[in-house]
Amino acid sequence: MARTYIKDLKVGEKVTVKGWLHEIRGLAKVKFLILRDYTGIIQCVATSDNEELFKKVKTLNPETVVEITGSVVANKIAKQGYEVAVEDLNILGEVSQVLPIQVVEKGDINTDLSTRMDNRFLDLRKPEINKIFQFRNTIYKTTVDFFMKNDFMNIATPKMTSAGVESGAEMFSIKYFNTKAYLSQSPQIYKQMMVCSGFEKVFEIGSIFRAENSNTTRHVTEFIGIDFEMAFVTDENELMDFTEEYIKELVKATKAEVKVPSKIPRVPFEEVRDMLNKKGKKITDDIDPESEKLLGELVLKKYKSDLIFVTNYPWSKRPFYHVKNGDGTKGFDLLLRGVEIATGSLREHNYDILKKQAEEKDVKLDDMKDYAVMFKCGAPPHGGCGLGMERITQNLLGLDNIREACFVPRDPDRLTP
Ligand code: 4AD
Ligand code: MG
Repeated sequence: MARTYIKDLKVGEKVTVKGWLHEIRGLAKVKFLILRDYTGIIQCVATSDNEELFKKVKTLNPETVVEITGSVVANKIAKQGYEVAVEDLNILGEVSQVLPIQVVEKGDINTDLSTRMDNRFLDLRKPEINKIFQFRNTIYKTTVDFFMKNDFMNIATPKMTSAGVESGAEMFSIKYFNTKAYLSQSPQIYKQMMVCSGFEKVFEIGSIFRAENSNTTRHVTEFIGIDFEMAFVTDENELMDFTEEYIKELVKATKAEVKVPSKIPRVPFEEVRDMLNKKGKKITDDIDPESEKLLGELVLKKYKSDLIFVTNYPWSKRPFYHVKNGDGTKGFDLLLRGVEIATGSLREHNYDILKKQAEEKDVKLDDMKDYAVMFKCGAPPHGGCGLGMERITQNLLGLDNIREACFVPRDPDRLTP
């Protein structure tokens, strides 16, 4: 018999459902098998009237994979208002050892994060954890739809590279035949290259690797970057307008409980510094995570917004390719509830200025031949932005730890599973 998904069950039908035994409850003469599939949970009932079936049911353990055939019958007491009266049951996947963690945690069992991540495939079976990834999936779909709708070309850039441009973001080195290569810390060079290749508007959703040896609730060593770059942009406000439109689509599509004002405030770094200094947080040329968190609270009070663009960061803390603006840069960070979710800027496309800026940062532009040449063969003015998928998921949902938003997280202490 063809399989019916739990979400499609209708009273009166004879069906075959397949999934995991979420819970088994029961009495001497009746057993309730709570079955879970990708689409939902349903109660299935077996009684001792069918002796052979009942014998089998009594041996079952939670998380066994089964196929159940029966009739969908109305039952006011059941959660859905109906249940499946079991007529036949087949075991498709045995549970032959004690589960390292429980999928349904009873009482005050509260498995710690590290143990959960050690047993992530079981952890992900929990409906409440599964929901995080449904949410993330909506972000993915909305992102692709948004950029496609706006005529962006989806690009795929190399993840094994010979150099990087994000100062401060450390790289993992790998052996590449007889030479050394690095895992990509950003598609930055390549998204600029694609713009210079005439695609004009490009985006990528791809893996990014950062060898940052610090354990925080907002850093992982591998994450998914959402990057875009567009040509003929001459003002960073255009980039912020577009980023804002995108974030608003995400909030709408995910129905996230986030305060978004009709226009997200754009506050220059100097003003942010004053706001924080007034509250006793002394910052100089960058905002540390603790100050960012406080800033999130101040912004919520002052602007009734969970989001803020901080603009014109000091040049001393920004990469060489940002366009200068006095002592600052024509760029921005977007913070969501006090956590950075995006960095963007106009890119310097004048070769001579770029070379000078690189020198100021001890970067030898002419050593980066493949990058430098682009600015001597007709580069359009351009700019772009990079966002972190896991940071967005974490902070739209208000999750404590970024690892909750990774299928299988990677951090300085974790290379398994
Ligand atoms: O701010 P970042 O380093 O900016 C860039 O890589 C630029 N190339 C982007 C641009 O177009 N100018 O990284 C972009 C975003 C951050 O805002 C953050 O959301 C996320 O990537 N991110 C991380 N997410 C998780 N773990 C980490 N270690 C992250 N580092 C950055
Ligand atoms: Mg940044």
